[in-house]
Amino acid sequence: KSKNTWSGRFNEPVSELVQRYTASVGFDWRLADYDIRGSLAHARMLEATGIIDADDLTAIELGLSQIREEIHSGDFVWRLELEDVHLNIERRLTVLIGDAGKRLHTARSRNDQVATDVRLYLRDAIDNLINLIHAMQLALLDLAEKNLDTVMPGFTHLQVAQPVVFGHHLMAYFEMLKRDVERLSDCRKRVNKLPLGAAALAGTSYPVNREAVARELGFDGVCENSLDAVSDRDFVIEFCAAAALIMTHLSRLSEELILWMSPSFGFIDLADRFCTGSSIMPQKKNPDVPELVRGKTGRVNGHLVALLTLMKAQPLAYNKDNQEDKEPMFDTVDTLTDTLRIYADMLTGIRVNQDAMRAAAMHGYATATDLADYLTKKGMPFREAHEAVAQAVRFAEKNNRDLSALSLPELQQFSSLIADDIFAVLTLEGSISSRNHIGGTAPAQVNAAIGRAREWLSSS
Ligand code: ARG
Repeated sequence: KSKNTWSGRFNEPVSELVQRYTASVGFDWRLADYDIRGSLAHARMLEATGIIDADDLTAIELGLSQIREEIHSGDFVWRLELEDVHLNIERRLTVLIGDAGKRLHTARSRNDQVATDVRLYLRDAIDNLINLIHAMQLALLDLAEKNLDTVMPGFTHLQVAQPVVFGHHLMAYFEMLKRDVERLSDCRKRVNKLPLGAAALAGTSYPVNREAVARELGFDGVCENSLDAVSDRDFVIEFCAAAALIMTHLSRLSEELILWMSPSFGFIDLADRFCTGSSIMPQKKNPDVPELVRGKTGRVNGHLVALLTLMKAQPLAYNKDNQEDKEPMFDTVDTLTDTLRIYADMLTGIRVNQDAMRAAAMHGYATATDLADYLTKKGMPFREAHEAVAQAVRFAEKNNRDLSALSLPELQQFSSLIADDIFAVLTLEGSISSRNHIGGTAPAQVNAAIGRAREWLSSS
């Protein structure tokens, strides 16, 4: 059995089961690049403040860059008995450069080290995810722009409500994703603080320069309290909450794509490369990708709950519980990354069936509200108009016709205020173009919204 880095005070080695149970190198190896960056910044500060000498620093720099290459080329041997990414790298450094390697951990603990690594990792992940959201937003804009005049039924309770244009419906998702970007950017501010210097929990007796390390690593500042710096993972939780909302938005869109693609709707068709067939029913083309997005939302939501639960009963400061933050975090980043990448591509491959959308909007009396508004504008109180139109809808339903298919005398049974200017109002286009204010579905407004969205995208 090899001696552990920390086992000086121990009388017996840990069992293989305990070793496997407590080790994290199987997943935290992914932090290696960040660990090395953190160590380099720490070592440079140690040298600048006279805690180690220049020769030690040179050796550490050479050793760490060799280790980085070994890891990238796949030659690095990760050893479970060395527990985690930090001790694996440190041990290798000592093998390579001797005593200088043993000095690297001066004025540092794995507690502030791992918190630093996680923050560096998450900062990169957030930047990457924001770029991927932007790409998906661009795909939404392109699809919306092509569908400024594509009429579809807008729904409430999944019942036909009022006509909207498809571009307007798509732009609703643009808005959701815009807020998602804002949430990630805001979370990033709190991620981007340096824990190093907190050491195990109380700070360090060495004359460290935390600001210099923060600057070198691109942090906006240092964590102000050493106990807090090593123990809280609220920034990971916040990230996972933002991620859960992003997945929730994508899950709603997925649900709609699935519905719209079902033959009963027939509004859209997804490109074949996002679907699979059935092993028994030859006619099937199943929307597997959106279904999986909907399904994976469950696991991302689960990670959020896992992390909240992980944190809730931990006394200050660091506890090994926190080692469990990494797998949910990595899986959240991985799932979200793949989902966003696939979505941007999937949106460009959507074929829209304008006729089916229009036909659906023609059923369900989507312009009934317009008729009520028409009567109200002619002086009838709205509640009375609501009642008159309800009667008209009953009549039309009994006769199996749309409101716009009723004759003028038929319509006039329900109010003498109705004149032949009503037919323009009852058309789908009349309804849509009348909602002509910021946020409304009139094509001119949707076009303006797309313009503002493009400006926001290019300035962010
Ligand atoms: N692998 C550990 C983690 O992920 C590193 C910190 C270990 N610190 C300690 N005192 N055991 O949290």
